Amino acid sequence: MGDLTGRVALVTGAARGIGAATAKALADAGAKVVISDVADGSETAAAIGGAYVKHDVVSEADWANAVAFAKRTFGGLDILVNNAGVFWLKPIAATSLEDFRRMQQINVEGVFLGLKHAIPAIAECASQWDGGGAIINLSSVAGLVGSPMTLAYSASKGAVRLMTKCAAMECAQAGMKVRVNSVHPGIIDTPMMAEAAEVMAGASGANDMRQRFAERHPMGRLGRDLDIANAIKFLASDAAAFMTGSEVVVDGGMTAM
Ligand SMILES: NC(=O)c1ccc[n+]([C@@H]2O[C@H](COP(=O)([O-])OP(=O)(O)OC[C@H]3O[C@@H](n4cnc5c(N)ncnc54)[C@H](O)[C@@H]3O)[C@@H](O)[C@H]2O)c1
Repeated sequence: MGDLTGRVALVTGAARGIGAATAKALADAGAKVVISDVADGSETAAAIGGAYVKHDVVSEADWANAVAFAKRTFGGLDILVNNAGVFWLKPIAATSLEDFRRMQQINVEGVFLGLKHAIPAIAECASQWDGGGAIINLSSVAGLVGSPMTLAYSASKGAVRLMTKCAAMECAQAGMKVRVNSVHPGIIDTPMMAEAAEVMAGASGANDMRQRFAERHPMGRLGRDLDIANAIKFLASDAAAFMTGSEVVVDGGMTAM
């Protein structure tokens, strides 16, 4: 189950964190992986036998280039993981309009452009696989439930959740074999989480903050990047052939309460 031999995947924001773990999991399953990021991902790519392309997800020209790079380098495109994203915690009153717009630009417009540019490329290759091609969008538990200080982030991740379902319906109705699903992580131990812990920690220290983040999950621990990468690998594979428009929650039980 989960074999991806012969498939080509593009993972955005894959220089570190969940994206890097996902790129490795897809490569371990046999896929050829393009790592894209605004930051340098060449070492991450070299470690898994993949290829790196510089890519800012807010730029339409960069999207066209990244998809063309995947086709040119590995011969097509079968899987897109819309992973690149940003996060910060701010009370509503302290959030500037510019802050709010920047969050939507990266987390929402980035995913929109990814869907727009990758769906036609994936559809071209999809008929050779039982489960067709696959797009996995990174939403969050913050796209399912509200919490203090995450208004801009939750707005963006709620949008990703429904954009996923719209794209899934459009592909299915058009008879394209492209499945589109979202993944909703809890709090995952990545550089993004560590940066948030630093900001929130204040006098109590970042380790105390990590512990408090961990305790928000009924399972009593932070998520690991591999917990999310494994769910993405499953959705990318033929094992998920009848799944589209679904939301896969990987949160140690957080939103089950
Ligand atoms: N870590 C968590 O607790 C958590 C929880 C729920 C959802 N998520 C989501 O998972 C995804 C990955 O999160 P992570 O924790 O690995 O984050 P991270 O900050 O550790 O890594 C994100 C990567 O995205 C890249 N990036 C940022 N802006 C970009 C842009 N404009 N274009 C291209 N690349 C860009 C960064 O350079 C970085 O390499 C994000 O969409 C995030 O919102 C994370």
